[in-house]
Amino acid sequence: MSRPATTPSKRPHRGAELELEVDSLAQGGRGVARRDGYVVFVNGGLPGDLVRARISKPKRSYAEASVVELLRPSPERLADVCVHAGEPCPGAPWQGLAYERQLAEKQAGVEDALRRLGGLEGFELRPIVTAAETWRYRNKLEYSFGRSPGGEPWLGFHRRGSWREVVDVDDCHLASEANNHARNDVRDWAALHGLESYDPNVHQGVLRNLVVREGRRTGELQTRLVTSEAEIPRPPVDLHTIVAGPGGGTDGPTGLLGAEYLTEEIGGLGYRVSPNAFLQTNTEMAERLYAIVAETADLQGTERVFDLYCGIGTIALSLARLAGEVWGVEAVADAIIDAEANATRNEIANVHFRKADARLGLRPLIEEAGRADVVVIDPPRAGLSAKVVRRVIECGAKRIVYVSCNPTTLAPNAAQLGEAGYALISAQPVDMFPQTPHVECVALLERS
Ligand SMILES: C[S@@+](CC[C@H](N)C(=O)[O-])C[C@H]1O[C@@H](n2cnc3c(N)ncnc32)[C@H](O)[C@@H]1O
Repeated sequence: MSRPATTPSKRPHRGAELELEVDSLAQGGRGVARRDGYVVFVNGGLPGDLVRARISKPKRSYAEASVVELLRPSPERLADVCVHAGEPCPGAPWQGLAYERQLAEKQAGVEDALRRLGGLEGFELRPIVTAAETWRYRNKLEYSFGRSPGGEPWLGFHRRGSWREVVDVDDCHLASEANNHARNDVRDWAALHGLESYDPNVHQGVLRNLVVREGRRTGELQTRLVTSEAEIPRPPVDLHTIVAGPGGGTDGPTGLLGAEYLTEEIGGLGYRVSPNAFLQTNTEMAERLYAIVAETADLQGTERVFDLYCGIGTIALSLARLAGEVWGVEAVADAIIDAEANATRNEIANVHFRKADARLGLRPLIEEAGRADVVVIDPPRAGLSAKVVRRVIECGAKRIVYVSCNPTTLAPNAAQLGEAGYALISAQPVDMFPQTPHVECVALLERS
């Protein structure tokens, strides 16, 4: 992992195309190239590649760029497996790296974040848990509509570095075959009816996005079409969301055309999931992750556990049989309704769920439930704000299990908790997202 150079040097202008040799990978997964000490972060570049890259953001001491042409691939580069219309899949930016190298980079990324960004020492860094499947592991993909030069509907991903252009997808190797079929069926329906994709530049057209979710264990699919407000023939999907205004996003009033919920099984428990509730995107590795959370929490059957950012209750319910009682907190109302339904579905009675923002909901929770023995935290990538860290400390737990999808926010949060007397005991990286730079990590902090 490399750091940006601090010495200002010749600063390229926006749009300039440079020939660059990538020498390493940065936090976040982009390639790092240097020109007279000036660092350029290269989207799409892997170590050993010689590329032509276009500068998008020139700053005083570094710039950001995207590969325009791979002039000489690294001798270690693997042939791309997932390619759409001649372009490497934007969802698999590390597919050119051997899987062992991906794991080594992720392990080093977690270590670098904890030691360098967090200034943390004296903890056990466990070897990364490898993924069960390196392809076709995602249970959810979100596609965008575009159009071919001839005006036919395309349905796929945004071209790397572009918010406007869409690359048509026929078979994405991150998705199951069933997911790919569902997407292609919707594109065929759009072509049959001559429907146009929405063009955000002129605010015209109808088709915006398609979200395909899959219950990997139940074999169920849930498809949600997002369109502008318009009269259209009945689409072959379960849910139809209308987004009225300009701009992006997939939130809006949703009509039901098929099943309302997706159901899934994880760790022997059954779950229902609402369309706008979070579910870990790799079901098989979520099961592994929750088992690691349970091992790390080391419950003795009597503890009061708080599960903060609990989603549909997966962690709370998987810990309930090992604890005295579990309280889940989550901001999305539908996810909390799912969590309560999931407790009933699995006949688990010692769990309680509260819909609240983590920042505002913790003091009322402590008043209602009392202090916690163990707190599990599983926040979004942004991690915890300083205020939420203070509220977590007020929970008074002996042990905190922090499930993080971003080591660069885990590290400062662990350091802040350290100032309040929580020592980082261990960190367990888990590979939930092969072919990407993303890494999950379960950290244990204990009050000394
Ligand atoms: C990474 S997910 C984890 C969910 C769950 N633990 C799981 O494994 O499925 C983070 C969750 O935090 C919720 N969330 C985001 N911001 C929040 C906030 N400010 N307060 C409470 N929950 C929030 C999201 O809706 C999402 O369900």
